[in-house]
Amino acid sequence: MTYALLPLPYAVDALAPQMSAETLEFHHGKHHQGYIDKVNELAAQTSMGGRGLVELIGTAGPGALFNNACQVWNHNFFWLCLSPTTAPPGGELAELIAAGFGSVEALLKQFSDQAVAHFGSGWAWLVLEQGAIKVTTYHDGDTPAAHPGVIPLFTLDLWEHAYYIDYRNARPRYVDAVLGAHVNWDFVAQNLDGQGVARADQDWMP
Ligand SMILES: [Fe+2]
Repeated sequence: MTYALLPLPYAVDALAPQMSAETLEFHHGKHHQGYIDKVNELAAQTSMGGRGLVELIGTAGPGALFNNACQVWNHNFFWLCLSPTTAPPGGELAELIAAGFGSVEALLKQFSDQAVAHFGSGWAWLVLEQGAIKVTTYHDGDTPAAHPGVIPLFTLDLWEHAYYIDYRNARPRYVDAVLGAHVNWDFVAQNLDGQGVARADQDWMP
């Protein structure tokens, strides 16, 4: 009768030093778990039990249940976007990046600029819209999973809880460190198939 916290796809110290084990223990084990707990608490007060997470996002309507469910999905997707090592994108993804930005470096520069400039809490996104790759940011828990037609490819958490342990208030240092060392381009490329929303979905467990 609950949604469960999905395990990290790597060891808790696998992203250090750019993202320390202590950060992952808090970010995954406390903050992500906190959104799970809230969704379970709120869903139990409704007739929405039994729905997959993405279905819940699509049907909950505005409010705390929707916001917390979005945050669960965003974090599920976020952990998949990172990897202990990074290798340059190839194939169709490399072609789309070249067509839209000129180079991977130019894309990451634009992503970093928007992530740093984003006011308050939220998420920076690489999305596919109408066949083109686009950089954007969403506020608070807003998510491509709630916007049909927006295909998520990659995200970076801009909530202060993502970086306060390792970087205090220095969001620019966090953004550039993680983008430089831990982008899982293989996962980004997989998401060109439009199934990214489903990849971070999870079932309600009876
Ligand atoms: Fe977070």
